[in-house]
Amino acid sequence: MIQDSYTRFYLEREKGSVFPNEAVVRIFRGRYPNLNLRDYGLSGKTLLDVGCGDGMNFLAMHDLGLKLFGTELTEEICLSTTRKMARYGLNVTMRKGVCGQLPFDDDEVDILMSWNSSYYMGEKNNSIEYSAHVVEFARVSKSGALIIMSIPTPDNFIFKASAELAPGYRLILDDPYGIRNDTVMRCFVDKDDLIGEFAGTYRDFRFATMNNDFFGQANNWIIMVAVKI
Ligand SMILES: C[S@@+](CC[C@H](N)C(=O)[O-])C[C@H]1O[C@@H](n2cnc3c(N)ncnc32)[C@H](O)[C@@H]1O
Repeated sequence: MIQDSYTRFYLEREKGSVFPNEAVVRIFRGRYPNLNLRDYGLSGKTLLDVGCGDGMNFLAMHDLGLKLFGTELTEEICLSTTRKMARYGLNVTMRKGVCGQLPFDDDEVDILMSWNSSYYMGEKNNSIEYSAHVVEFARVSKSGALIIMSIPTPDNFIFKASAELAPGYRLILDDPYGIRNDTVMRCFVDKDDLIGEFAGTYRDFRFATMNNDFFGQANNWIIMVAVKI
């Protein structure tokens, strides 16, 4: 099960170093024609990183005055990430949860980030639909809150060995990291497909794309930033 494989993955690496994703550093610290988070006034705001893993991306934002919260699949990962972030002097509150069930009250969050995690739909027999993730992201977010997420495009290496279960949903068959086999993932065709899921609950959509052939691995992603209505 993905809970077990990710728990093993993070616990085995707990003593190792972490580095934030380059794009997350750029989102939080850069200024671009269509995005400048400094305008949003980050200090004192509550940030929830859904599926934050070992907390690597908190390193990109810890000194911006944000209150940092993260979720992960198991209590063991949450404890491991808390210990790891403490080693870096970061105070992060970790809670067990998944995209479709977040351990937060309504209207609690100012910025919800789901970096390489919002499209994880669970096991094959799990009947949850992506719209349930959107409802849950919106429930915990204040009106005017930001959502920041990265989504693999259909030609991303993640979907290379996968089977279509239903339109937009793929079963991972041969994950190169051996962690995510038999997991269902939402596969968005393009930006319009994403807007289709989020419109009605979110507005002011902004996008970036990252397309890299990284030594033979297709690292192709859409990054979406939007505002909760
Ligand atoms: C590719 S990792 C990304 C981790 C981290 N956000 C990063 O950028 O390194 C995907 C993460 O999503 C978590 N995850 C898996 N299924 C999830 C779900 N249904 N809801 C929320 N998080 C999930 C995993 O435990 C894992 O840490």
